[in-house]
Amino acid sequence: MSDDQLESGKDVIAGLSAEQKSLPPKYFYDQRGSELFEQICELPEYYPTRTETAILKEYSGAIAQKTGPCEIVELGSGSSTKSRILLNAYQDAGYPLRYLPVDVSDTMLTESAEKLLQEYPAMSIWAIASTYEPALNALPPKQLPARMIAFIGSTIGNLQPAECEAFLENISETLEVGDYFLLGLDLQKETSILESAYNDAQGVTAAFNLNMLRHLNRQFEGNFDLANFAHVASYNSQKKQIEMYLESLTAQTVRLEVLDLTVEFEMGDRILSEISRKFSLEEIANSLSSHRLKVVEIFTDTEQRFGLMLCQKAS
Ligand code: AVJ
Repeated sequence: MSDDQLESGKDVIAGLSAEQKSLPPKYFYDQRGSELFEQICELPEYYPTRTETAILKEYSGAIAQKTGPCEIVELGSGSSTKSRILLNAYQDAGYPLRYLPVDVSDTMLTESAEKLLQEYPAMSIWAIASTYEPALNALPPKQLPARMIAFIGSTIGNLQPAECEAFLENISETLEVGDYFLLGLDLQKETSILESAYNDAQGVTAAFNLNMLRHLNRQFEGNFDLANFAHVASYNSQKKQIEMYLESLTAQTVRLEVLDLTVEFEMGDRILSEISRKFSLEEIANSLSSHRLKVVEIFTDTEQRFGLMLCQKAS
């Protein structure tokens, strides 16, 4: 991977040296982690992917009609499974296809781009293996009348409120007036549904969480013993977020050679590996408009589990 920020590990040092230990969620997504995430999306308990897919199937035609011909920049494209629904809608409308997927997992990105080129021979692809910020700053010039940045899957839920506001501002500055932003959001709901989604019976989410330590071992010559950590996920109803932790099952010392970092754990110490915020459509609409992102249309499922917001950059 070419991205400096991706390789340096400064964020790992900062996170593991803090009073409340934490790690950035991007470290979930090495090749194995990306595959485990694909498996999570298929789990019976993990409703978000299924629900968002259904919303996209129902409304992608309407989205294409609203935006007209536009190129699609997708942040966190993964295997581009849901993106195909959108791409099909633009194709069916007879619009030219240009797709700019951004993902931290370069293997996943390359593999899916190659498949997409075969499936959509007329489509042009510009793939960027990077975290979001550098990618937004390095987008090539627009080739179609409009551009839509798609940030679906509720990945925005990984950002702390202040980071989220900074991110929306960055999106807004990247877009030209009249361009679009499509945002997928997991909505607030009963705790039991949320907690099941992050504590699946098959233990795939646990494997996904623990895999982050294996990724760090490989990338930074670490010696995390995965057997000494446990997956914990619970809903913080005050902050309206799922919090996922890696809990130390024993007192232990971990070393990351490449970072020259030694980390001490007491039994029960937790590393916060992910927050997954759950949104209210009203609140997020307010945030969006404060960043000059005007809500054009909101799409949801009948149970209001998940929301898709189409926004347009205002002057
Ligand atoms: C990809 C960030 C949206 O928060 O639900 C799934 C990641 N973590 N199960 C989420 C995840 C545990 C997912 N996002």
